[in-house]
Amino acid sequence: KLDDVHHLFIAGNPDLPTVVLLHGTGGDENDLVPIAKYLAPNHPILAIRGRVLENGYHRFFERYAEGQFNLVSLNEQTAWLVKSVTELLTKYDLNTSSALAIGFSNGANIALHALLTHRETPFKNVMALHAMQLTPITEPAKLQGNHVFLSHGNFDPIVPRDSLDALVDNLAQAKALVTVFRLNQSHVISSEELQAAKIWLQAND
Ligand code: MLT
Repeated sequence: KLDDVHHLFIAGNPDLPTVVLLHGTGGDENDLVPIAKYLAPNHPILAIRGRVLENGYHRFFERYAEGQFNLVSLNEQTAWLVKSVTELLTKYDLNTSSALAIGFSNGANIALHALLTHRETPFKNVMALHAMQLTPITEPAKLQGNHVFLSHGNFDPIVPRDSLDALVDNLAQAKALVTVFRLNQSHVISSEELQAAKIWLQAND
């Protein structure tokens, strides 16, 4: 039920793409709001809380261990996310196919999984901060016209370089327009990548 979806909505200019915020493991719907306000101050904001709990920490899908994902949960929760975001956008009278997903880590991972596996999602563009490949998608959705920004830390202990490269290849195979920003840092969001993300957003909004 829609009422069960923990979310936060902040109204904005409805002619601009809604920013859909998807937090990392252990976060919640409030985490990325300052980032959305910095990157896209006039856009409507819809922030979703992942409904899976791992030792009390919120996530968007289950995993067995670091880097070992429960693909059944992944597919179920991705379908839930696509449906819930679409219904919430409808409820708030917003466009249901032009949203910009901004996700960090686990939230970025599910946004890209939605894009790669669903023919229709509420997301047009995705800003994926510190995402990784969850599983290769052999027949990805057609993503011509979908822009994806990815950031990756060269010293990230969670996202090996190969994982990011495989994800980029999978998105390119789907014909998404991919921008990769690499930095010498770990699995955290930095002001440097947000500046790059803001320039990308201004070009692709
Ligand atoms: C995941 O589980 O999606 C990734 O390992 C990122 C994270 O630590 O949440």
